Amino acid sequence: MLLQSLTTLNYRNLTPDTLHFPAGVSAVWGPNGAGKTNLLEATYLALTGLSEVSRLEQLVLQGESEAYVRAELLQGGSLSVLEVGLGRGRRTLKVDGVRVRGHELPRGSAVWIRPEDSDLVYGAPGGRRAYLDELLSRLSARYAQQLPRYERAVAQRNAALKAGEDWAMPIWEETLVKLGSEIIEVRRRAVGRLAELAYEANAALGSAKALRLELSESTTPETFRADFARRAAEERARGSTVIGPHRDDLTLTLGDFPAGDYASRGEARTIALSLRKAELDLLRERFGDMPLLLIDDFSAELDPSRRAFLLTLAASVPQAIVTGTEEAPGAALSLRAEAGSFFPAPPSQTPLPQVRA
Ligand SMILES: Nc1ncnc2c1ncn2[C@@H]1O[C@H](COP(=O)(O)OP(=O)(O)O)[C@@H](O)[C@H]1O
Ligand SMILES: [Mg+2]
Repeated sequence: MLLQSLTTLNYRNLTPDTLHFPAGVSAVWGPNGAGKTNLLEATYLALTGLSEVSRLEQLVLQGESEAYVRAELLQGGSLSVLEVGLGRGRRTLKVDGVRVRGHELPRGSAVWIRPEDSDLVYGAPGGRRAYLDELLSRLSARYAQQLPRYERAVAQRNAALKAGEDWAMPIWEETLVKLGSEIIEVRRRAVGRLAELAYEANAALGSAKALRLELSESTTPETFRADFARRAAEERARGSTVIGPHRDDLTLTLGDFPAGDYASRGEARTIALSLRKAELDLLRERFGDMPLLLIDDFSAELDPSRRAFLLTLAASVPQAIVTGTEEAPGAALSLRAEAGSFFPAPPSQTPLPQVRA
């Protein structure tokens, strides 16, 4: 998987332009607010169709009504053109000029590592569910379709609970048991392998404590119906569905303790990085092609072993874009970022930091 070029128009503060990327590491460096994160965000959006912002308008240059991102991607010897149009709360995706839906995009195409990833460890279960659901939606087109169906059914059942429509419950419960059980089964299968990969990455990062990933389930396919019956009074009182995969968590344990409550800042960074490395490995295993690696703000990583891990990882994949306030070493392309523009600069010859094998 090689990103050949990225074109943006009216995307946040990025100056309309087309950037060409070689294989290997592209270093994008410059001061805060220059648009480095925006460039990675636009790349990730073009490749995966995914964005975390709550309102798509945020992605459009202030004062404009539409934005556009286009990526040329070389995949298994053929070139695809991926386009995203943004405007009035809508997102339009195209592959080679043909309108597609999110799950029809090439799904193993990019992994994005960010400083904010530590939120996965310290934050609420919703963030970890989003991590898992995003990954599984990319591994399985069926999951990508079933998950929003399940979520809509939960919202509709909640409305029915609030309205006291008891007669509708058996129908909603049937739907939730069917869709929810399928979601739980896919999660169970994937988390086994994800846990192995994250355990290995955490150890490779020099952590002496074992990292464990487990699903914490509010119900199971086997007990779903009985749990609805058992919790009926509570659900009616609260007007919401309290069991099902939308309430589950991906629990993280470091050594003997829950990571969210006990991990130090540094340990949380290492765990988050392990989760991203596991994501990269799982996508590569599934699709047989190494995703484009996007590393945001490597220079914010002050710990020498994690910094070396990040830079060694970037150097080991076919293609990576690494941003920072300083230039990432060993780059094939160096782009200096300034006020939304990116200027080619001669790459510096700084060697990669050494990392224990
Ligand atoms: N929709 C938008 N329109 C115009 N500017 C935006 C928009 N969204 C963000 N910005 C600007 O982008 C800049 C942040 O860019 P960012 O990529 O986060 O910088 P950095 O190089 O530090 O990663 C901020 O100055 C912000 O005001
Ligand atoms: Mg940034």
